Amino acid sequence: MGIGLDLPIPFGWFAVAYSKDLAPGEVSPTFLFGQHQALFRTESGEARMLEAFCPHLGAHLGQGGKVVGEQIACPFHGWQLDGDGVVREVPYAETMPRRTQEGACLYSYPVQERNQMIWAWYHPRRIEPTFEIEDIPEFSDPDWSELETYEWEIESHIQETGENAVDIAHFVYVHSARTMPKANITLDGCRRITEMVSLSPKIGEDGTIDLSKTEDSYLISRNWGPGMSSQTFDRAFKTVMMGTMTPVTNNKLILRFAFTKPRNISEQFNVLTNGLIAETVRQVGHDIEIWKHKLYRDDPILCDGDGPVAKYRQWFRQFYDEGAEDAPIRLVG
Ligand code: FES
Ligand SMILES: [Fe+2]
Repeated sequence: MGIGLDLPIPFGWFAVAYSKDLAPGEVSPTFLFGQHQALFRTESGEARMLEAFCPHLGAHLGQGGKVVGEQIACPFHGWQLDGDGVVREVPYAETMPRRTQEGACLYSYPVQERNQMIWAWYHPRRIEPTFEIEDIPEFSDPDWSELETYEWEIESHIQETGENAVDIAHFVYVHSARTMPKANITLDGCRRITEMVSLSPKIGEDGTIDLSKTEDSYLISRNWGPGMSSQTFDRAFKTVMMGTMTPVTNNKLILRFAFTKPRNISEQFNVLTNGLIAETVRQVGHDIEIWKHKLYRDDPILCDGDGPVAKYRQWFRQFYDEGAEDAPIRLVG
C-alpha cells in the first residue's frame, strides 16, 4: 500500500451506493470513514444512514436489521429507531427509558440522492454540510444512456488519487499521451475545474479517424469537494463520466466511474465512445500500480512543467478539519 499516508480523512459528501442498488425496505451494512454504519431505505423511499451500533446493547443494525415503515428494527431485541436516530419503539417496555425521550440516541449522517447515487456527508466532528452536491444534468436526462459503472478498492489516500488530474507529466509517462497536455486549473471555494487540451488523431464528422492529422481534444474535469468529480469528453462524440472517491479509512478508498452517453448516436460514434470508456478504465489500472507502491511526499521537489500540483494541494487543505494553518503539508517548488 501507499507509504507515508498519515493524512487525515477529509470532510465532504461521499458516494455510498448507486440509488438503484438500495430498494425500499432494504438494509445494508457499510464501513466508511473508519466507522460502521447501517444504510437503509424506508418504505416511503427515503435513504438514511445511521451509525451502526444499537444504543440498547450494541447490535449492528445493518446486519439483520429490518425496515418497518420509516424505521429500522434492531435484529437483537426489536427496538425501533427512525432515520434521525431517535428510538421510537421498545416493543416490550412498559415505560420508554428516559434517554429515548431526550432526542437522537444514534448519529444520523446527512444523506442526499443526486446523480443516481446516494451520498453521505462525513465530518470528523459531525459538523453539518458546508457545501452542496452539484447536479450533472446528463445524469437525469432521458436522452442519455443508463450508467455504465466501474469500481475499484484502492490502497491510497483520497488526496493522492485526486492529484492525478493535475499531474500533467504522468499522462505522457503512465498513460502514453503523445504530447504533454496543457492544463488550466480554476479554484473556486469547494470547486476545482481543470481544462486540459491535448493533441489527438483527427476524427471526421462521420466518426472516421485520420491518423495522419491531429486536432486539439478537450477534457474538462470538475471537482466538488474531495469526493466527487465529473469529466466531459467533448469531441465529435460525447460522453460524461462521474468519478466518485469514498474514503474507507485514511489509506483505503473506493473509486467509482459511471459513464453516460447520448442514446441516439450512430454505430460508428458508439464504437468510438465505447473505445474511449474502455481506455479510460484501462488507464486507471496503470495509476493504481503507481499509487500502491509510492510514498506520499509532503515536500516534493517540483519543476515548471509539472502542472499545478502545489495549487491542488493547497486547495485540498480546506477539507481537513484543522484548517489551513495546521494541515500537515509543506510545499516546495
Ligand atoms: S441491541 Fe438493539 S434492541 Fe437490543
Ligand atoms: Fe492517471
